[in-house]
Amino acid sequence: APGGPGEHATPDSRLTSEDLRSHRWYGTDGLRSFSHRARTRQLGYLPEEHLGKPVIAILNTWSDINPCHVHLRDRAQAVKRGVWQAGGFPLEFPVSTLSETFQKPTPMLYRNMLAMETEELLRSYPVDGAVLMGGCDKSTPALLMGAASFDLPAVFVPAGPMLPGHWRDEVLGSGTDMWKYWDDKRAGLIGDCEMAELENGLARSPGHCMTMGTASTLTAAAEALGVTVPGASSIPAVDSGHDRMAAESGRLIVDLVWRRLTLSKILTAEAYEDAVATVLALGGSTNAVIHLIAMAGRSGITLTLDDFDRVARTVPVLANLRPGGQYLMEDFHFAGGLPGFLTRLTDVLHLDRPTVAHTTLREQLAGAVVHNTDVIRERAKPLAQEGGVAVLRGNICPDGAVIKHIAAEPHLLHHTGPAVVFDDYREMQRTINDPALALTADHVLVLRNAGPKGGPGMPEYGMLPIPDYLLKQGVRDMVRLSDARMSGTSYGACVLHIAPESYVGGPLALVRDGDLITLDVDARSLHLHVSDEELTRRRTKWTPPPARYRRGYGALYEDQITQADTGCDFAFLARPGAAPDPYVG
Ligand code: FES
Ligand code: MG
Repeated sequence: APGGPGEHATPDSRLTSEDLRSHRWYGTDGLRSFSHRARTRQLGYLPEEHLGKPVIAILNTWSDINPCHVHLRDRAQAVKRGVWQAGGFPLEFPVSTLSETFQKPTPMLYRNMLAMETEELLRSYPVDGAVLMGGCDKSTPALLMGAASFDLPAVFVPAGPMLPGHWRDEVLGSGTDMWKYWDDKRAGLIGDCEMAELENGLARSPGHCMTMGTASTLTAAAEALGVTVPGASSIPAVDSGHDRMAAESGRLIVDLVWRRLTLSKILTAEAYEDAVATVLALGGSTNAVIHLIAMAGRSGITLTLDDFDRVARTVPVLANLRPGGQYLMEDFHFAGGLPGFLTRLTDVLHLDRPTVAHTTLREQLAGAVVHNTDVIRERAKPLAQEGGVAVLRGNICPDGAVIKHIAAEPHLLHHTGPAVVFDDYREMQRTINDPALALTADHVLVLRNAGPKGGPGMPEYGMLPIPDYLLKQGVRDMVRLSDARMSGTSYGACVLHIAPESYVGGPLALVRDGDLITLDVDARSLHLHVSDEELTRRRTKWTPPPARYRRGYGALYEDQITQADTGCDFAFLARPGAAPDPYVG
């Protein structure tokens, strides 16, 4: 654990109290400083408790409605303990909670809002360093995007996975097994009693989803980027080790402030490349593609879909975790967690880059071990030879699309079939089970108007349901296409993130029922068997849908949102350059 102020700093890089950004609020002779000190007395602090100390903002996404973060209200106390121990002054700031379960139409609509809130809160208050507390899907990228844009020292405290689910003698994965048993119910294999029991067992403690879904993928990415305490991302949310990690994060951030170790020194192109390799080798969520591209953008780094495809071809899938594999995050933790996992990838990682905890990643991984080679596979025994995501191109997706091919039935990875097109999700839900559609296992289900603008917010509609009557025939996977995203806990031959999206006139808007579509994952292609002339003819008849929002956040969103291949950031937030620090005085 780091020691006192500046212990690891070289003398010339170490800050003094008067260099602290917060000094402008508290330490000058002016009226404003007097007022800020008086108001801190009002908060109940003596001068010697805070003056001259780094102010550490603890950004907490705790909320009563967010079961993934419900323990963070307490956990912030452990962070504060660490900050006080290291000679800092902790101040907790409640920020927006993005609950994957409850927020509609999707928290993706609000990722950039939390990123803005994070950035502006850090900018407008007397903050020297930040501890970012989150983990449910979008909260990780949102907090890191905002903090990277402001570029101060920051440590991310991952919320931690919930405990493994249980039902009778089965171990359940949140999300993944919800989909599975819902399909069983629809197929008539289980009834209401079983469902009532499952309701109690799917998610049995605070914490984020404990499969390798979006939450675990992004918190692992944060650890791989080097912005957490080593080993933090897999500690179960309710494990006492999570408290200890939170306190260590508090001590660490104070040290980082004195050492001027701002995020831009950690979040380098090499760090993002390593995060890409990590999420692919984990068999992580397709959502990571969008989020890492957006996060890198905030660090001034251009990460592309092709980077993912290139890296995917160099790393095998080594984490035997649901939905692609067998185990859950607690197993992964005791198998060695991310430090153990990264020892499997040392040939592709950039080991000389710094992290918040160590001078180099190499040093951080020294002593890391794998304790269970079924959970964390050896390179010679991967779950899949290639990383979990493939990037597709073709005349339906000129700006790309992604597929998590390791989570699909292999026979569908090279498939040609006739399209059946749904213009909207509600219509699809209403009609998909109608036997009059006469769908077969060969059909290609196409959903449009579910992209960044059309969704809006690119909801996780991408795993279109298999019709009941096909389920009963034993069909469990079909080729599905959309401009939507898919939950990290979902599975199937689902082509996602088609760009440009149909709502803005991407070629997906021109597909008609019966058109033949070929998916060829080996060739990385998705082809619509319709001539260019015919597509041009169809385009002249296409009219853009009217804007959805006339006012409010939705109007800002619709105006500024970028396409999936560039990360769905707001154009005005993705621009390079720093905003001015506010005048204090
Ligand atoms: Fe929060 Fe899955 S619902 S991580
Ligand atoms: Mg999810």
